[in-house]
Amino acid sequence: MAKIQLKNVSKAYGNNKKVIDNMNLDIQDGSFTVLVGPSGCGKSTTLRMIAGLEEVTSGEIWIGDQLVNEVAPGKRGISMVFQNYALYPTMTVRGNIEFGLANMKIPKAKRKKMVEEIAEIVDLTEYLDKRPQNLSGGQRQRVALARAMVKKPKVFIFDEPLSNLDAKLRAQMRTELIQLHKRLGTTFIYVTHDQVEAMSMGDEIVILDKGHIMQQAAPMEIYHHPANQFVAKFIGTPAMNVLPISMLERKIGKITDERIFHVGFRPEHANIQTTYQMNAGLYLPCNIVTMETLGSETLYLVNSDAGTFHVKSFHNPLIGTEKVHVTIPFEKLYFFDSEGNRVCTDGLPFENLDVTVKEEVLV
Ligand SMILES: Nc1ncnc2c1ncn2[C@@H]1O[C@H](COP(=O)(O)OP(=O)(O)O)[C@@H](O)[C@H]1O
Ligand SMILES: [Mg+2]
Repeated sequence: MAKIQLKNVSKAYGNNKKVIDNMNLDIQDGSFTVLVGPSGCGKSTTLRMIAGLEEVTSGEIWIGDQLVNEVAPGKRGISMVFQNYALYPTMTVRGNIEFGLANMKIPKAKRKKMVEEIAEIVDLTEYLDKRPQNLSGGQRQRVALARAMVKKPKVFIFDEPLSNLDAKLRAQMRTELIQLHKRLGTTFIYVTHDQVEAMSMGDEIVILDKGHIMQQAAPMEIYHHPANQFVAKFIGTPAMNVLPISMLERKIGKITDERIFHVGFRPEHANIQTTYQMNAGLYLPCNIVTMETLGSETLYLVNSDAGTFHVKSFHNPLIGTEKVHVTIPFEKLYFFDSEGNRVCTDGLPFENLDVTVKEEVLV
């Protein structure tokens, strides 16, 4: 069992202010949990406290049913893979992997067998006698993985392990790590600042901002039901459009729910057309500011009198027009309060919809 729990964990470095503030986090046994958030939000600190490389200032860390606050890093059953793989340049791949077994008092023959088994899993068998400088970036990353795996830890933790790799290799390693997690069934805790990596790899995502958990949920839950504006804007490319309600009020009539300050919608949920078509939705006449044709999709930056925003369309690009009609279906709108928290309304929080839409058409 290697469920991990942080209970009321805070961390301050020296006398500075807290970088983790009263964090409560449950990581399920066998999950692939991704901690994601902007640089400096406390991801590495959280990982390092779980691994025992950093002491907590207050609170408790549990691994399985053991309180580990006082347990040394080497005794926590955790293996860690970092961004710079920290391989020994003078040792062969075999030596580097075997190094993971140092201090474990395992007989030589058994060690050899364990190293070879792991090398097979990460596809390094042919490279066992080579040195790191003769390997590609991806192969080196796999050596680092193998060295962590050979210890058969209960939990793997990864701190931005792919950020030094080029885009193509990163995509390949992402797939490899997902497969590896499936094969091992061990708990993975993975840190990244890259929301695409988080969405594609995690079965559970924890979004952090300034030492606080903004939301923890499965990727599609986060995408469809963001708890607040921070999460709504952090996940998805381009980010969710968020417009102040004061600018929309003139278009869609009186807002009946006083809690609402902002309305959001994702670029991919806005329909863009050259002619107005009656659709049930928030309607905004716009001008195209820029257009990027990306092959399967087109990305527009448009300007309306409620503000500038993005539209992503999977139809043919609208070439040779500037004036466009943008409609967002009502069910794709998100509402946020003055603090940025999501407001869930029963039905639509507007009045006089049709009237204003018709006026707009006449303009
Ligand atoms: N050893 C340290 N001493 C003082 N401050 C630190 C130390 N390590 C991290 N911090 C500060 O703690 C905050 C969180 O850092 P970190 O956990 O590394 O963030 P992330 O990994 O999300 O980028 C940052 O403001 C950082 O400057
Ligand atoms: Mg970090």
